[in-house]
Amino acid sequence: MIRSALLMIVLLMSTDAEALQVIGGDVTVVQGGTAILPCHVIDTNDDLTQITWQRKTREKPHNDNFLTILPRDGAQFVNGRDDRFKYIGNFNSKNGTLQLSNVTLKDEGSYTCIFTLFPSGNQKTQIPLNLLGTLNFFFTLSSTINLFLLPPLSLLNFIVQRNAFLCTHDNKHFES
Ligand SMILES: *[C@@H]1O[C@H](CO)[C@@H](O)[C@H](O)[C@H]1NC(C)=O
Ligand SMILES: *[C@@H]1O[C@H](CO)[C@@H](O)[C@H](O)[C@H]1NC(C)=O
Repeated sequence: MIRSALLMIVLLMSTDAEALQVIGGDVTVVQGGTAILPCHVIDTNDDLTQITWQRKTREKPHNDNFLTILPRDGAQFVNGRDDRFKYIGNFNSKNGTLQLSNVTLKDEGSYTCIFTLFPSGNQKTQIPLNLLGTLNFFFTLSSTINLFLLPPLSLLNFIVQRNAFLCTHDNKHFES
């Protein structure tokens, strides 16, 4: 009884003391599909001054800023625009969520959203974007085929080779 009461108090205290956190996610999308890159901050009363998105993908292997979101100007591309990205979050509720449409293999990688907060400074999290493309599909398909078809095939192969060996052997036998 006392133990559970103590546990209760500890739990309440720890939720009370919970600190600012940036919540992201792990995203998987099919090629040509639309990905939602979720990102928001919880447990803070800080002022949000800017949201920045960085990416490190197959196409752009260096972690670079590509989008900044300011309260007045909204979303702005940093190194060239890419209209497939759309800011669908909400600045006032500290939501930096992005939408990426027509996803290609080149987009696969790691996306980082950074919240510039006052007074706590920059807080960020990484969101991996994985592609479930045709490549993966064929890989899965071929391993399934290997698994189910190869054993009978190799057995057949073995039988054919054995018969061929026996035939040549028999022929030689006849010849001699
Ligand atoms: C996405 O692909 C569709 C179909 O190919 C095209 O009509 C559309 O303009 C593309 N959208 C963007 C933002 O590139
Ligand atoms: C953030 O914005 C996205 C897109 O509008 C929405 O789906 C999501 O529920 C929002 N997250 C929170 C915590 O409000």
